[in-house]
Amino acid sequence: MKILVTGGAGFIGSAFVRMAIGETGSQVVNLDKLTYAGNLENLAEADGNSRYRFVHGDICDEGLVDSLAIEERPDAIVHFAAESHVDRSILSPEAAIQTNLRGTFTLLEAARRHKLGRFVHVSTDEVYGSLAAPLEATEDFPLNASSPYSASKAGSDLLARSYFVTYKLPVAITRASNNYGPYQFPEKLIPLMIANAFEDKPLPVYGDGMQVRDWLYVDDHCRGILAVLQKGREGEIYNIGGNRSLPNLDVVHKVLALTGKPDSLIRYVTDRPGHDRRYALSSAKLMKETGWAPAMDFETGLGRTIEWYRGNAAWVARVRSGEYLTYYERNYAAR
Ligand code: NAD
Ligand code: TYD
Repeated sequence: MKILVTGGAGFIGSAFVRMAIGETGSQVVNLDKLTYAGNLENLAEADGNSRYRFVHGDICDEGLVDSLAIEERPDAIVHFAAESHVDRSILSPEAAIQTNLRGTFTLLEAARRHKLGRFVHVSTDEVYGSLAAPLEATEDFPLNASSPYSASKAGSDLLARSYFVTYKLPVAITRASNNYGPYQFPEKLIPLMIANAFEDKPLPVYGDGMQVRDWLYVDDHCRGILAVLQKGREGEIYNIGGNRSLPNLDVVHKVLALTGKPDSLIRYVTDRPGHDRRYALSSAKLMKETGWAPAMDFETGLGRTIEWYRGNAAWVARVRSGEYLTYYERNYAAR
C-alpha cells in the first residue's frame, strides 16, 4: 500500500511513518512544511529507505497537493499535519485556522478530484470539550470545542465528514487523547516538564493542576490509526484513548519522581484562558470493531519517554534553541 502521510516530520506523524515502513512494509510519501514542530531528525531511520519519499511543502498549496496526487496516486492519505498546540493557538490563532481548516480542505479536494482511496483524518478528543466526571465521550457526543486549536480541528472533522456524506469520499476520522512518547516537541506538558526537570528549571503548572487528561502512548495511537486504515468503516469516527486518566499534577509528580528531582520545582502559574477541565474518551467502538487496545501502561511509557529524552540531549538542545526561546518567553514570562 502507498500512503501519503501529511505532517510526518512531527511527533505522531514520524512515529507513524517509522511504523508504516518498518512494520507494515508500506510505501510512504511524507508531505511536511517543516514548521517549528517538523524535524527531519525524527525520521533519520527512514533516510535511504527505497519505500520512503520526503516532500517539503505546505498542505495549503493546491498546486503541489494536486501534482502529488497525480504523480503518486496514493492508495490512502493519513492526515496528521496541523498546528497542534493549544497555547500557540491562543497566542496566534491564524496559523491553526489556515493549516487545520484550509489545509484539510485542500487535501480533501485533491482526494475528491483524483478519486483517491481511504482518507484518515487524524483528530483529537479536544473537539468534545470539557466533560464532567464520570462521562466518557463516545463518537456521537456533541462537538464543544473551547480553544482556537480545538475549534479548528472540530471544523476540519465536520468538513472531512461532509466529503463522505456528499461525495462518498472514503473518509474515516480518528479522535485520540493526549499522546506522549519520544520525539514530542517540548511545548506539550510531559516533554516540557521532563526537559525543565533535567535542567532544574521551574515546572509551570497551570491553575490548580487538577485538570484531567487521558494519556495515550504514541505507538498505541499509531496502531489505532493503522487499525482504522485497514479495518475501519467508511464515514465513521473512531475514538482512540489510552484508558489512563490523570490530573496534571499527578503526571508532574511522576515526572519528578522518575527524574529524581524535588517537588519544590513545581510553580503554580496563571491558568490557560478557556482551559478545559477534563477530557475523557471511550474507545469501545474501535476495540470492538478492530480488536485494537492500548498496550502501554502509563508508568512504563513515561519511564521509557524520560529515558529517551535523557539519551537524546542533543535533540532536545537543538529544538529548545532559537524560536522555542521566543515562544517560551511569550507564553510563560507573564504568567
Ligand atoms: P506536531 O506539532 O508534532 O507536528 C505537526 C507536523 O505537521 C509538523 O511536522 C509540521 O511541520 C507539520 N505541518 C504543520 N503545518 C503544515 C502545513 N501547513 N503543511 C504541511 N505540514 C505541516 O503534531 P503532533 O502532536 O504530531 O499531532 C499530529 C496530529 O495529531 C495533529 O493533527 C493533531 O491535531 C493530532 N493529535 C495530536 C495529539 C497530541 O497529543 N499531540 C492528540 C490527538 C490528536
Ligand atoms: P498540553 O500538553 O498543552 O495538551 P492539551 O492542552 O492539548 O491537553 O497540556 C496538557 C495539560 O497540561 C493541559 O491541561 C494544560 C496543562 N499544562 C500545564 O499545566 N503547564 C504547561 O506548561 C503546559 C504546556 C500544559
